[in-house]
Amino acid sequence: MSRFEVRKAVIPAAGMGTRFLPATKASPKEMLPLVDKPLIQYAVEEAVASGIEDIIIITGRGKRAIEDHFDRSVELEEILKGSGKAHLLSQMRHISSLANFCYVRQTEALGLGHAVLCAQRLIGDEPFAVMLGDEIIDAPVPGLAQLIHAYKKRHGAILGVQEVPHQDVNRYGIVSSRTIAAGLHRVEDLVEKPAPEEAPSNLAVIGRYVLPPEIFSILRKTRPGKNGEIQLTDALRELAKKSPMHALEVQGQRYDAGDKLGFLIATVEFALNNPSLGPAFGDYLQNRIRPSGGRRTTRARKG
Ligand code: G1P
Repeated sequence: MSRFEVRKAVIPAAGMGTRFLPATKASPKEMLPLVDKPLIQYAVEEAVASGIEDIIIITGRGKRAIEDHFDRSVELEEILKGSGKAHLLSQMRHISSLANFCYVRQTEALGLGHAVLCAQRLIGDEPFAVMLGDEIIDAPVPGLAQLIHAYKKRHGAILGVQEVPHQDVNRYGIVSSRTIAAGLHRVEDLVEKPAPEEAPSNLAVIGRYVLPPEIFSILRKTRPGKNGEIQLTDALRELAKKSPMHALEVQGQRYDAGDKLGFLIATVEFALNNPSLGPAFGDYLQNRIRPSGGRRTTRARKG
């Protein structure tokens, strides 16, 4: 195996989901369904489609449903088998065979950097991906695969970025960089959630990273930063001082499904693209937007 092979992905899923309360009071936000699949399954499927074999999910209290989702459900399988629902049965079995799943508990919510550090022993001394499950990337070439491809050429950390509206920079890690090729930037510095007037650019980190194992020794020394949390962005700043780091503009449609409006937009788009729901849902939306106009036309024709 080449030492630049990326086989493992870390999906932090220990957060409290405060942006989605009260839905997330007793249920993990990662299990919110986007049409008919929980959010975290989209990240797992993107990872698998990008060549990842081992998925390390960082969990916490109240997150058991995630483990159950990626485990087999023998009782459910028996029922589906007995009622002749072969298609659903194979879909259920497929979920548990997507990858090798490992779970690490983050006992205290100390921040994204700390969550990633929890995976150190399972990652060991190899490069790995970090994927934030509330960012959904819909792309012909999976978002993470685009980063891994760039990593194999550049060999340093690669951050997935996209341009965001200037007024939204305070929701993201923002890079200060110099463009070296179309869609590829050499990262000089980063800042976590800057005020718009202090942001060095509008290139935002969109929850996809390929990182070298050197990040762990930096994370161990990283002090709490923005919001009193151990920030991955602060560790990345240090790493960028020591070794080349690049930001790759990810090609594809991104949805911030961890936010109520972003989640609704993603739901509408995925429902419209769903072969069995899309046509009827599209009709419903059209009538919903122009209800009186639609009805008037019908009545006029009949009369
Ligand atoms: C995290 C990171 C931030 C990144 C964002 C992408 O923030 O800290 O740098 O831009 O994810 O979604 P969070 O959204 O977890 O507050």
